[in-house]
Amino acid sequence: MRLVILDEYNLASEWAAKYIRNRIVQFMPGPDKFFTLGLPTGSTPLGCYKKLIEYHTSGDISFKYVKTFNMDEYVGLPRDHPESYHSYMWNNFFKHIDIDPANAHILDGNAPDLQKECEAFEQKLRSWGIDLFVGGIGPDGHIAFNEPGSSLVSRTRVKTLAKDTIVANARFFGNDLSKVPTMTLTVGVGTVMDAREVMILITGAHKAFALYKAIEEGVNHMWTVSAFQQHPRTIFVCDEDATLELRVKTVKYFKGLMHVHNKLVDPLHSMKDYKN
Ligand code: PGA
Repeated sequence: MRLVILDEYNLASEWAAKYIRNRIVQFMPGPDKFFTLGLPTGSTPLGCYKKLIEYHTSGDISFKYVKTFNMDEYVGLPRDHPESYHSYMWNNFFKHIDIDPANAHILDGNAPDLQKECEAFEQKLRSWGIDLFVGGIGPDGHIAFNEPGSSLVSRTRVKTLAKDTIVANARFFGNDLSKVPTMTLTVGVGTVMDAREVMILITGAHKAFALYKAIEEGVNHMWTVSAFQQHPRTIFVCDEDATLELRVKTVKYFKGLMHVHNKLVDPLHSMKDYKN
């Protein structure tokens, strides 16, 4: 596991975006070789998406041969509702880059048969395999919508949200609890564990206890993000605030490795250069 600690949110977002950029560019995607990227929603990845859009605008990266798979979607919220994850992804990322919408996969929370929808999504993920799954977590340590107590080998499925998550999401629905969807479709912990690589973004003091549970205590289904201790390639990218509950020794150890980690985000030649 790598723990990358940046001073503040914007720097953490930039680091994560550079990492994604480098991974895609180094992969040298093409018509017969798509890079597959798992993506989250929420407030945490917004800074990272903004930076990726900048890299796209400056010609450093293309998403033409990238397939994306989103982690989750609300059940029953119209696709064009401003808070649907379809709207979120389109407005905050996809409409600003050159991805073919047919390559951007998001679960359909209005499918007539939700179970079938989940099975088909899981099947697609399995057949493509995910090169890099990017995730965020909730203060209760949930990854995607795998709430506390979710099976750590769970797959894509229909899930009822924990009360804490419904309350946390109320801010997006005019603070009216009755308007917040209570069910979602979500990839499972096992689904994300199948990715070749996982990068989890954790920022803010309100996530500090979850980061502590994620890395300093054992694997526990009450903190589903802790499952990634058993993934061969996980990077946690966080800001200083998120480290508040970690031991000084842990923070010092990983900060001492920053010169190594920073090599992973060194500027690369552009995709154009790689193809020549
Ligand atoms: P946030 O949500 O990025 O808005 O904090 C993350 C989550 O709850 O999974």
